Amino acid sequence: MTETAVHTQSTQNMTVLVTGASGKTGRRVAEAAEAAGYTVRAASRSGAVRFDWYDPTTWEDALRGADAAYLAYMPDVGAPGAGDTVGALARQAVALGVRRLVLLSARGEDQAEPAERAVRESGAEWTVVRASWFAQNLSEGPLLDGMRAGELVFPAGEVLEPFIDARDIADVVVAVLRPGSGYAGRVVEISGPRLISFRDAVAEVSAAAGREIRYVPVSAQEYGSALAEFGVPPQETEFLIELFETNLDGRNAHLSDGVRQVLGRAPRDFAEFAREHAEAGVWKA
Ligand SMILES: NC(=O)c1ccc[n+]([C@@H]2O[C@H](COP(=O)([O-])OP(=O)(O)OC[C@H]3O[C@@H](n4cnc5c(N)ncnc54)[C@H](OP(=O)(O)O)[C@@H]3O)[C@@H](O)[C@H]2O)c1
Repeated sequence: MTETAVHTQSTQNMTVLVTGASGKTGRRVAEAAEAAGYTVRAASRSGAVRFDWYDPTTWEDALRGADAAYLAYMPDVGAPGAGDTVGALARQAVALGVRRLVLLSARGEDQAEPAERAVRESGAEWTVVRASWFAQNLSEGPLLDGMRAGELVFPAGEVLEPFIDARDIADVVVAVLRPGSGYAGRVVEISGPRLISFRDAVAEVSAAAGREIRYVPVSAQEYGSALAEFGVPPQETEFLIELFETNLDGRNAHLSDGVRQVLGRAPRDFAEFAREHAEAGVWKA
């Protein structure tokens, strides 16, 4: 029997609930899990399977009958209340027989500790995957409009960050989920292969896209004020200011080797992300 056949055999008849399934990581986790032979339950507020972190009445139907779940807490794993909510969901999952949980967390984010602890103490077979900053933050989500308009205004100064490709996150999540992977009860830290500043990341995108896109560093306070003007609620703005002031202060300016540890290969480089997304026309004006 080939390795692929063995792999598929161990995951067929297994159902994995993927939260945030239309998001940067969830979409790719769902694709990778399906390719690995799982039956995937793609869940979000507007997804095929309805799931809302803030509406516990949606949890049971999403969880019941699943064997495993990928948990991406919104809006951020370190947001106020994440520990209580993730804990309640994780305990309900275990009670319903969903024993295998993978929580997406963030490297160096002290604020994520309550959510991580809640999963560890839930009675589940847990894995925490702590990721560095996603490359796809520049190609999807709230920063894309600015990139398309030719300017990324962001409070990252000249700090260095090993941007990770969300496809590598998905590959790691699916690999650690695999029965017998040996990653139950473990924290895995993953990053891209190269430290780059946000200025250089934007410059690489700009060169790949063949148009000028500038990086404009601002303070976290200035950034928070701009978010407030766009209607982001005060509690969320406060949290984001604190998050950017701490997480982008240089503490994460180092590489982590989790991708190689789990997958036995190097993580994708930011240049590959920039080239592929530029070719797909993501940053066209
Ligand atoms: N961005 C980074 O660099 C980074 C780094 C490390 C860790 N993280 C963590 O990654 C997570 C975010 O993951 P992501 O970037 O893949 O997500 P994302 O791209 O922001 O996508 C959001 C997804 O979650 C769903 N969603 C939004 N609000 C929801 C709610 N209240 N209940 C249930 N689902 C909801 C959305 O679909 P609907 O609108 O249909 O609900 C969508 O599928 C956060 O926990 C963050 O802390 C991020």
